[in-house]
Amino acid sequence: MNDLSRAELLDHELAEAMDKLVIVKSAIYTSGECDPRDPPQRQDTAGRLHLMGHDPRLPKMPAKPTLFDFFNYRFGPAAHMLQSARLALKNGCNEKVILACLVHDCSAAGFIRADHGYWAAQLIAPYVDEEVAFAVRYHQVLRFYPDEAFGYKYPDSYVRLFGPNYRPEPYLDRAHEYCRNHKWYETARLLTVNDLYSFDPNLQVELKEFTDIVGRNFRQPEEGLGFDNSPSAHMWRTINWPTRYL
Ligand SMILES: [Fe+2]
Ligand SMILES: [Fe+2]
Repeated sequence: MNDLSRAELLDHELAEAMDKLVIVKSAIYTSGECDPRDPPQRQDTAGRLHLMGHDPRLPKMPAKPTLFDFFNYRFGPAAHMLQSARLALKNGCNEKVILACLVHDCSAAGFIRADHGYWAAQLIAPYVDEEVAFAVRYHQVLRFYPDEAFGYKYPDSYVRLFGPNYRPEPYLDRAHEYCRNHKWYETARLLTVNDLYSFDPNLQVELKEFTDIVGRNFRQPEEGLGFDNSPSAHMWRTINWPTRYL
């Protein structure tokens, strides 16, 4: 079978699977695009079942997914995280900082953007050293606050993205204050120093370069991420099966 007929067959199989299913979006996926208080759009559900597992539009994940499986099948382009981790490696940072760089934006890449540092920290917390989760949680906050001692300036890209008059919310001021006085401030700050503002489209960094560092610093659960009953397992399951009805 040539590539074209294979693609046509897959399209056909997908269309058939979709015909049999009712797939709805969680409120958070459409909140803002429409008022969540509006009644949901009516769908013709006659003869169809509500999706309760794998979404046929997505690549299927292994039964026991690893962190790298999430990178490969569920996260958006990860060049930014990979290049940040490579930079931390090149700058001689320790493995905690390198791992933190590798996963720091995983929430923005595969889950939720708003407060992405907090969500990402929660996702990884059961599997990494507390200090790594701390750095990931606070990198989002520290990005807004310069620190000359580390050569960290307010990013030019933020002026472009948010305008010159943007001021962080008071809760971020408080979080910054807290983090600055914390024993792990340096780890979180080093993450922001290596968190690349702009990535190089010509620099190819492979996940496998970090296999050993991840192996030593990320406690991959035997059952697979999402199935180990950890405090964040449900979040990994939601990324795996984002459109399940319940
Ligand atoms: Fe970030
Ligand atoms: Fe980042």
